[in-house]
Amino acid sequence: MTNILCIGAGYVGGSTMPILASHCPEDRFVIVDINEARIAAWQSDQLPIYEPGLDEIVLQTRGKNLFFSTEIDRHIAEAEIIFVSVNTPTKTFGRGAGRAADLQYWEKTARQILQNSTTSKIVVEKSTLPVRTAEAMERILNSNGNGLHFDVLSNPEFLAEGTAIRDMQNPDRVLIGGRETESGRKAVGKLVELYARWIPRERIITTNLWSSELSKLVANAFLAQRISSINSISALCEKTEADISEVVNAIGRDDRIGHRFLQASVGFGGSCFKKDILNLVYLCDHYGLPEVARYWEQVVLMNEYQEARFAANMVASMFNTVAGKRIALFGAAFKANTSDTRESPALEVCRSLLEEHANVVITDPHAMENAAEDLKELAGRVTFESDPYAASKNAHAIAILTEWKQYAQLDYERIYHAMAKPAFLFDGRNLLDPKKLYEIGFNVYPIGKPPLTRLSSPAFTPA
Ligand code: NAD
Ligand code: UGA
Repeated sequence: MTNILCIGAGYVGGSTMPILASHCPEDRFVIVDINEARIAAWQSDQLPIYEPGLDEIVLQTRGKNLFFSTEIDRHIAEAEIIFVSVNTPTKTFGRGAGRAADLQYWEKTARQILQNSTTSKIVVEKSTLPVRTAEAMERILNSNGNGLHFDVLSNPEFLAEGTAIRDMQNPDRVLIGGRETESGRKAVGKLVELYARWIPRERIITTNLWSSELSKLVANAFLAQRISSINSISALCEKTEADISEVVNAIGRDDRIGHRFLQASVGFGGSCFKKDILNLVYLCDHYGLPEVARYWEQVVLMNEYQEARFAANMVASMFNTVAGKRIALFGAAFKANTSDTRESPALEVCRSLLEEHANVVITDPHAMENAAEDLKELAGRVTFESDPYAASKNAHAIAILTEWKQYAQLDYERIYHAMAKPAFLFDGRNLLDPKKLYEIGFNVYPIGKPPLTRLSSPAFTPA
């Protein structure tokens, strides 16, 4: 039996460890966190995050070989392998503010591991970190005077929220970076064995530490870059009567480009894309590569443009004023199948509309609690309504901001009849069939496609 600890019971710790525990029944897994309420929720029937399929796996393993605790020191002492999956947000203060990763939680963890260890251990970076962080981690940990040895490995996580269980059960690859020393190779081997219980060996990639750390940032940067690229083209489609879905189909048929991750949208959200790219930008500047930094920075700027463009288009289409108009936002989560609202474009659109004095009502099947917390400084100016029919009643406009499947299955005829007229629908996810909505009577504004509207608008005029 191996004692395995995970520090950080957030999205990553909380969804990866139960799966590891389910595949390694003879090992003992403990997840610890400083947040007592979070740990209590993991021990209850109401898990702190909504992730399809997670409840079943937690139920299967909890109390058997998976435990949640706030006793961090004691569990550090007992562990042989420690995964660290604490948050690494963007720094908000001091040098690198707004771009560099804030490593304070990370460093505290390293020191806590050092203070509470009486045996040598493998420490695994699961959090996303700037390249060469493992060096600092090694320096802190191996500064002990009692002969303990710590092997630091990098094992970045590639799961996406909403599909975390599927991604973990059947990953494209697992990446493990380690030192090319005898002890480093042994530590890598131990982690490979853990994953090899259910993942084919050829999908487990081992590299040096720095390649592994950097690959995580690069993977997110490439994914986000695809979205910003297609969103930039969606703007051009709207000017030229090209249709973004047809363009994606045409270019995606080229195997070298492929179809995936080219869904034009109101913008990408989530806790990681923006922070990881900004971190990459900071690193490039730090290493004296300003041209490379500016190249990647543009991915984030394009995303901000897309969010702002969407909100501005709503206002412009509704006769340049939304003041006092009820507007129903369908979706608050940053994507479907999650309760997570971190960096959600829906909340950005909400803030822009509130600046225009709109009367905003938000509906979402799983993310309203988080949205209310994020918008608490605006409490009283935005309302929440769990029923989309009630949310859209008397509304001048609906904006689809999260691609929840249930929003495609609503009775839009019924919704239309209960709305103020003219009724507007802005589809920030291209989730609905614009023609059907137009036939019902809506003025429809998809992303990257010509609007379908009965209102007089400037005729198409090529430059
Ligand atoms: P999170 O904020 O949901 O969870 C982090 C947890 O760590 C929190 O519960 C916090 O209380 C805890 N914590 C902080 N300091 C601690 C300490 N000293 N001791 C014990 N617990 C401590 O974050 P997350 O979304 O799980 O992300 C964690 C890391 O994984 C980040 O680096 C992120 O970039 C990366 N990542 C996230 C995802 C994702 O889908 N969310 C995917 C891949 C990688
Ligand atoms: C992303 C990556 O996909 C994961 O591999 C990575 O592990 C994770 O970040 C991380 O490091 O945190 P996640 O943010 O959970 O996962 O979800 P994605 O499916 O990548 O979606 C991110 C955002 O892009 C969402 O707002 C989504 O709606 C948007 N998106 C995605 C689009 O607008 N178009 C697309 O084609 C795909």
